Amino acid sequence: MAILPIVTYGHPALRKKAERVSPGENVRDLVEDMFETMRNAQGIGLAANQVGVLKRVIVMDVSPMEEYKDEKPRVLINPEIISHTGEWELEEGCLSIPAVRDVVTRSENVHIKYLDLDFDEQELEAEGVPGRVILHEIDHLNGILFIDHLSPGRRKFHKGILLDIKRGDLDIPYPVIGSQEEEVRNS
Ligand code: NI
Repeated sequence: MAILPIVTYGHPALRKKAERVSPGENVRDLVEDMFETMRNAQGIGLAANQVGVLKRVIVMDVSPMEEYKDEKPRVLINPEIISHTGEWELEEGCLSIPAVRDVVTRSENVHIKYLDLDFDEQELEAEGVPGRVILHEIDHLNGILFIDHLSPGRRKFHKGILLDIKRGDLDIPYPVIGSQEEEVRNS
């Protein structure tokens, strides 16, 4: 297992649509590394785009939260939303956009289907924080960030810190790859 660097705001992988995992494709090592990476950064959800891998793979574990301590860690491969209902507001953050938090309105209940690590099809109905994490992470697979859901005014409010992240001027307590480094690697 390895802790992978998390790509931060401005990195192109966060704006790309991840591709479906083919049946039988081996993603076990990726999933193990993603769990280790997420836990090291004290996150509760991580999408493969965030480690620069454009595959539709999500890991989540909300059990560090007292209210959800009995929830099992989950791996969601090729997740698809079957239906969603309701609406609620909750403050969100993102390991790729450290130090930015804001209130996002999303569906309250979500019904998804996905493949587990054995490529067996599963269905899940989730609400509360687990449902919230699923919607946030599925957004990542589609190149969408939580700040995209904010009003222009709220985005403007966060502009300074977003610029700091892009420039690599923010101290982040876990390994990251910023947009600057991506430019360096490509040059
Ligand atoms: Ni995120």
